[in-house]
Amino acid sequence: MSDTTTRRVVEASNRQQGDHPSGDNRFELVDKHLKRARYEQDQLIETLHVAQDVFGYLSEDILIYVARALRLPPSMVYGVATFYHLFTFEPPGDHSCTVCTGTACFVKGADAIVQGVSDAYSVPTGETSADGSLTLKTARCLGSCGLAPVVVLDGSVLSHQNAESTLELVGTAVGGEG
Ligand code: FES
Repeated sequence: MSDTTTRRVVEASNRQQGDHPSGDNRFELVDKHLKRARYEQDQLIETLHVAQDVFGYLSEDILIYVARALRLPPSMVYGVATFYHLFTFEPPGDHSCTVCTGTACFVKGADAIVQGVSDAYSVPTGETSADGSLTLKTARCLGSCGLAPVVVLDGSVLSHQNAESTLELVGTAVGGEG
């Protein structure tokens, strides 16, 4: 057995089951979906959803990976991904604050909440603070207008918010920073 062959055998035996050749096992979950979808090109949007669920966002590497797997031009995959507002291209922060800016929430002061959080954490809407602690987003009507203004903080729905109450809760979530 040559040195190279021996090394390969040792590497293979050292490799834990399930290791993905990319070095990132999260791709395995995307691969599983791709296999189930038989690598059909019309599964692009569904595949992007799966990839975003797995990684939390769609990086350029992920978009290229999906494009190769489905034998589609990367430019087309990028075009489709950017067309839909559901996809995000920045890694999410440790915490996420989504402020509903639908009509009911807007008339009850949602903008002041967005501004307050944005100012306090120096984070523009739709982005993540420089230290990675907080992602600030806005959403169209979240379907709970009776609770306006509505904020979703780390998955919890907060009702009848104002800038002060939201900042207090975000501060607690982030750990008193900001
Ligand atoms: S407008 Fe905010 S929940 Fe409907």
